[in-house]
Amino acid sequence: MALRLLLLLLLLSLLTSTHCSCDSLHRRLLSLSFSSVAGFHPPPASATGDCIRHLHLPSQNLSGTIAWIFLRNITTLQTLDLSGNALDGSIPGSFWSSPALTEVNLARNSLGGPLRFVESGLRFLNLSGNRFSAASDLSQLTSLKVLDLSRNKIGFTPPGLNSLHNIQYLDLSNNSMTGKFPRDFPAIAGLRCMNVSYNNLTGEIDSEALHKFGSSAFEKGGIFTYAAASSEQTKGKKHEKSRAWRKAVIAAASAVVGVVIVGVLIAGAFCYRRKRSPEKEKGEIAEEEIGWVREARWGAPVVVFEKPLMELTFGDLAGATSGFGRESLMAEGGRSGPIYRAVLPGEMHVVVRVMERDRGVEPAAAAAAFKEIGRLRHRNLLPLLGYCISGREKLLLYEYMERGDLHRWLHELPAGQPDVEDWTGDTWENPPSDTRPSSSSAAAAGGIITAVGDWPTRHRIALGVARGLAFLHQGWVGSRTPVVHGHLVPSNILISDDLEPRIADFAGEGGCATAEDDVYSYGVVVMELVTGRPHWPEEEVERLRVVVRDGPPAAVAAVVDERLQLEAEWEKEAVECLKVGYLCTAKSPEKRPAMQQVVALLKDIRPDTAADGGGGASPTF
Ligand SMILES: *[C@@H]1O[C@H](CO)[C@@H](O)[C@H](O)[C@H]1NC(C)=O
Ligand SMILES: *[C@@H]1O[C@H](CO)[C@@H](O)[C@H](O)[C@H]1NC(C)=O
Ligand SMILES: *[C@@H]1O[C@H](CO)[C@@H](O)[C@H](O)[C@H]1NC(C)=O
Ligand SMILES: *[C@@H]1O[C@H](CO)[C@@H](O)[C@H](O)[C@H]1NC(C)=O
Ligand SMILES: *[C@@H]1O[C@H](CO)[C@@H](O)[C@H](O)[C@H]1NC(C)=O
Ligand SMILES: *[C@@H]1O[C@H](CO)[C@@H](O)[C@H](O)[C@H]1NC(C)=O
Repeated sequence: MALRLLLLLLLLSLLTSTHCSCDSLHRRLLSLSFSSVAGFHPPPASATGDCIRHLHLPSQNLSGTIAWIFLRNITTLQTLDLSGNALDGSIPGSFWSSPALTEVNLARNSLGGPLRFVESGLRFLNLSGNRFSAASDLSQLTSLKVLDLSRNKIGFTPPGLNSLHNIQYLDLSNNSMTGKFPRDFPAIAGLRCMNVSYNNLTGEIDSEALHKFGSSAFEKGGIFTYAAASSEQTKGKKHEKSRAWRKAVIAAASAVVGVVIVGVLIAGAFCYRRKRSPEKEKGEIAEEEIGWVREARWGAPVVVFEKPLMELTFGDLAGATSGFGRESLMAEGGRSGPIYRAVLPGEMHVVVRVMERDRGVEPAAAAAAFKEIGRLRHRNLLPLLGYCISGREKLLLYEYMERGDLHRWLHELPAGQPDVEDWTGDTWENPPSDTRPSSSSAAAAGGIITAVGDWPTRHRIALGVARGLAFLHQGWVGSRTPVVHGHLVPSNILISDDLEPRIADFAGEGGCATAEDDVYSYGVVVMELVTGRPHWPEEEVERLRVVVRDGPPAAVAAVVDERLQLEAEWEKEAVECLKVGYLCTAKSPEKRPAMQQVVALLKDIRPDTAADGGGGASPTF
């Protein structure tokens, strides 16, 4: 059955345990490398022999100078982490030619001097928080994906930066770099995350970049002018004059926005503190909270994608949420802003998200971005219904999901109770603590779905979430940059009436997260779905991974949620799914499968029964 899964597992185990013998040369080179380093204790020889692949000594109070020429000759070394020590000296260019090296983290040390690179297969490099004075020949690092040179003393933008064709993450903040933005920088399209703040650059920032990286990525970065989105710039020379004028206006506006953002942050921090203190001075708090509502433009139209004739305004949204008052507040909101529940004319039940984070974004850029998001349609994504831009306020409208989210569904609903009623009230009584679901599959067959679900339902949810993520990772129409969610957790996975999962909150930009980070988060969701246990800190994930990898079959089967009461066949499927969770949570991001592969694996484990149901657009995956 799960042939592909087995193949993948086999492949991975081959990758991780290839035996090799390096006699004792590498261990000798290691002692030589650290001979002038205080606090160094050679790690015990591992079971794989004397080959050293990974050297991880972060925050070990190491001080002194490493003899990099010896370290370079440990030809099997792949990853090096010496961050958070007190190492000094400089790094000779030849070190970077160490043949197997892919990840180096030397952040927070006292290393200095100029950096010079030679040809290398390096993919991850973190040199943040040192004293490097310059960096050159970056063009040699053609495989580099992540580069963090923040908090150094680098005086000019490193030559060769713009030939880093694979770079996704670039942090140059807090140096004193001079140079031109964007000319000296890699193409913005491939960058997922960039930060040039606290430098001495000059150049032009368009609203696309501002929206993508956030205004804090440019804060105190130098002297920038602000331009409208590049698509508008191509419209012709006719507008040259008005463009110059507009640019000046936007530059002025941006300056104002900068001030406003700081103001909002301060006000936000203030509100937050106030909200945490028990409800004193209730009236005053309410005043503060609705300040922005009063200042918004009430006549601003609400754009509803599929119902263009629906004439709604910001005022209608305010009316339907009692002026964005407490009684309509569903969640204070995590990364984007608070969420309100509203019933609009025509019994349209929606959720309104106030994008506090986007207040500084220029309205035209925001509208363009929201329209793009609106085009992302997939049955496993919570669709964006529309938006409203009222001055600096940006609001997004989503469909309201009666059943709530996966977290609630797995952990908060009493087992064995029908999950069909309104859940806002306290309509349930707590079940006696020892009740088991009578027979969840039978209940499902009868159309009544128990709260914890049966195995086919859980598998279907896992598969649906995988599909939704795979769809996002495939990228925007017309561009190949993946849309990264960045915050996939059960409370962001809503359950539709027909028990399809719908991923929410994917419009808030993934920030600096990668698609591989999403895959990890997905793996954790799978672990939660199979075991039925909430709360998965990293150590807990690691513990389960060890059980899945090394445990006898009985031990693995024992972690499956006992509320499911699985028979042998289904239990086998659940265990196979745990293995998918195992693959997705691999320590090294590069070993994690792509979401499209995950979809294939899950379909191998259990053929998809719902693929043709559900109606609507046919799924891509
Ligand atoms: C770190 O090392 C220095 C000398 O190398 C020593 O004086 C200090 O006590 C060490 N600190 C800790 C926490 O071990
Ligand atoms: C490192 O290896 C190269 C090539 O194998 C050799 O020429 C060089 O002497 C070695 N350096 C040290 C410090 O061992
Ligand atoms: C680099 O290291 C610093 C300090 O430990 C850390 O704050 C930063 O997030 C790291 N950068 C990357 C890209 O991981
Ligand atoms: C810049 O780096 C210095 C030294 O690492 C640090 O003290 C300072 O707080 C940093 N500034 C910002 C804005 O991060
Ligand atoms: C930027 O340059 C000016 C003058 O050239 C200098 O005074 C200032 O300290 C520099 N700022 C940074 C952050 O390096
Ligand atoms: C950019 O770097 C600065 C200083 O290091 C930091 O304060 C800011 O939050 C960063 N912004 C982003 C978007 O990472």
